[in-house]
Amino acid sequence: MKKIKKIGVLTSGGDAPGMNACVRAVVRTCMYHKVKTVGILEGYKGLIEDNVVTMGSKSVANIIQRGGTILKSARSMEFMTKEGRAKAYDTLIKNKIDALIVIGGNGTFTGASVFMSEYDFPIIGAPGTIDNDLYGTDMTIGFDTALNTVMDAVDKIRDTADSHNRLFFIEVMGRDAGFIALRSGIAGGAKEILIPETITYIDELCEILENSIKSKKQAGVILVAEGDDAGGAIEVARKMSEKFPNIESRVTILGHIQRGGSPTSFDRILASTMGYEAVNSIMTGRRGEMIGIINKNVVYIPFEKAIKEHKMVSASMLKMVKILANNI
Ligand code: F6P
Repeated sequence: MKKIKKIGVLTSGGDAPGMNACVRAVVRTCMYHKVKTVGILEGYKGLIEDNVVTMGSKSVANIIQRGGTILKSARSMEFMTKEGRAKAYDTLIKNKIDALIVIGGNGTFTGASVFMSEYDFPIIGAPGTIDNDLYGTDMTIGFDTALNTVMDAVDKIRDTADSHNRLFFIEVMGRDAGFIALRSGIAGGAKEILIPETITYIDELCEILENSIKSKKQAGVILVAEGDDAGGAIEVARKMSEKFPNIESRVTILGHIQRGGSPTSFDRILASTMGYEAVNSIMTGRRGEMIGIINKNVVYIPFEKAIKEHKMVSASMLKMVKILANNI
């Protein structure tokens, strides 16, 4: 095994609160191992464009509490091409980088996996995405903060919903995954949640609203994941107002507010642990794996598995939503 003297770190894909805490942990753990660290700005785009900065203890001071990523992030189309990856490899050689730590989601690890199949280069991943849609870890960096952001918004909307006896359709992020909608729906006491993993039956939703009208409890919130099969919150609200013209409804799309903000203590600890473990694992010769934490234990999931396997939403939680909302 080649001795590792310099590690590069990058953040890629959608940013997530806690990415900075992870970068800090990478840099400080590298210092412990007497390994140099460089930051690659704007993810794989920066790797292609040789956008590399030297990092030290001071460059990661006072960032553990900050949302976003000091390394910037991007979704690089060029890295999906052979030519782009060849340029990226040149940057690694030119800067004498011996290993890479990539912090991101599914697209980030797909890129890492393809790169590793072409070049014999050690890469370890830390899962950073608010969507929590990666197989092999209970939680991804940023998910807990996003949940708390949504819960706070839902609480506020419930106040006004109640005052005006209105029904709110709140759209949350999750193109392919309903983890944010499911958990924030439970935490916010939603009447129902609509997620991409399950088929949304409009008739069932109508029944729920009919029962709400009967029990004079039509005010409330329905959480809609942006990727739900029935459409986003605007579309679902439109379908519902056609059927229930007497229910006054409103739509709120939370959007990118979910991606920002100071990370929760949970995310800071998770991100620090993952950054720390990423460096330690690379120093012991591991490569091609994502750091995960399952039942409080650190695990190593091959990139292919993290990408291909599907993380399931909990069926018992889905049932619980219905029972707690009196929908069964
Ligand atoms: O992957 C994280 C995520 O926030 C998704 O939930 C959302 O669909 C997507 O990114 C939005 O991406 P962008 O910021 O590039 O529009």
